Amino acid sequence: MDKYIINGGNRLYGEIDIQSAKNSVLPILAATVLTDERVTLENVPQITDVRNMLRILECLGCKTVLSGNDVQIDSSCAVSYEIPSTLAHELRSSVFLLGSVISRFHRAKIAYPGGCDIGLRPIDLHLKGLKRLGVRIDEHNGYITCECQRLKGNEIMLDCPSVGATENIMLAAVLAEGRTVIKNAAREPEIEDLQNFLNSVGANISGAGSGTIVIDGVSALGGGSYRPIPDRIEAGTYLIAAAMCGGRVTLNGANGEMLSSLLHKLYENGCKIAQKDDKITIQADSRPRSVKSVETQPYPGFPTDLQAQMTALCALSAGSSVITENLFETRFKFVPELRKMGADITVADRNAFVSGVPALRGATVVAQDLRGGAALVLAALAADGRSEILNISHIDRGYSAMEYKLRAVSADIVRVTV
Ligand code: UD1
Repeated sequence: MDKYIINGGNRLYGEIDIQSAKNSVLPILAATVLTDERVTLENVPQITDVRNMLRILECLGCKTVLSGNDVQIDSSCAVSYEIPSTLAHELRSSVFLLGSVISRFHRAKIAYPGGCDIGLRPIDLHLKGLKRLGVRIDEHNGYITCECQRLKGNEIMLDCPSVGATENIMLAAVLAEGRTVIKNAAREPEIEDLQNFLNSVGANISGAGSGTIVIDGVSALGGGSYRPIPDRIEAGTYLIAAAMCGGRVTLNGANGEMLSSLLHKLYENGCKIAQKDDKITIQADSRPRSVKSVETQPYPGFPTDLQAQMTALCALSAGSSVITENLFETRFKFVPELRKMGADITVADRNAFVSGVPALRGATVVAQDLRGGAALVLAALAADGRSEILNISHIDRGYSAMEYKLRAVSADIVRVTV
């Protein structure tokens, strides 16, 4: 039950190192079940979601060793095909294990996955895709049980470009017999990263990053070391922090190309942004100008995972904005908390209508989910006075060492264990 205490108003100056992408690391960890050889992942974020995924792998019988920011996984001794329900409830990405566990054991059992409560988050497309590869699925008492003989490649058309379904099907298809083609696949960079990892250990996948992914089944995978891509959502969160607080912040180990939808909005806000190699520097000299509209879309559109942080920025900008959330139904739960800090925001259905105020004021607010919680931290950093952010276990799911990184750029933020 930790909380953050933040004294707002400091401008931010300095550098922040960006972690590997949570949304790459989690499916890649699930993928390690597919090989008997050792895999090392580098620059892995120390976040609860990763710790929970490692605990699940251990429950399956895999050996995991964390050394610094690297993690080594040895799945040669995996014996179990059941994902423990307590951990599945903690972690939505546990569902990726269906694809890899079925492939390895020809059976899998998992409780319905948990994760952030940001909408209905069905998994029908995951299950439909797996069925197309020959998996028999039974859903009873909150559990999904899967069985198959040999997985067989097939053509799969996704009704919508779901990130998780695309990744789950890729994982099931890697060692399947023959060719799998995923149409209307999600195009997020983390999917291309999963492809690159899998190909680095011997898979034969092409097309990730486009709407059509072709997976030619291979007989076995090997091992090796892999460094996942930088976390574009962590990077985007700190860019927005600088835009809200003012100052000059450089992100090390970031990728501007993957963030272009955000960078365009930050230009509109009046921020100056420079990119060189893997560094992005943002300079914000005056109060941000409002952006007219922000609409979340699948990649390369504006990411839903930066919507809450962007809404917090609009709340302080000069002018008004309309934010439309197209992906998840209940992703405005942070808005009543922001209003406690003086924000002028009205939510109607999938839209938030924001009238920027010249200043926010410190308040005690409660994080309701991962990204909404991050948005509250940003608002508190920019607000006048003292804020307490409660329930920060949500934030710990996706940001490693957030308070250390922010203190390194002059923010006044401490963690208190209640
Ligand atoms: C992933 C990301 C999450 C991000 C989201 C959208 C991970 C671990 N999580 O979540 O951070 O916010 O992509 O970029 O990578 N849908 C269905 N049926 C399904 C699956 C999804 O209808 O079987 C719908 C969802 O309700 C949602 C949309 O598809 O409206 C997108 O969801 P999806 O891309 O699957 O998100 P996740 O993989 O859960």
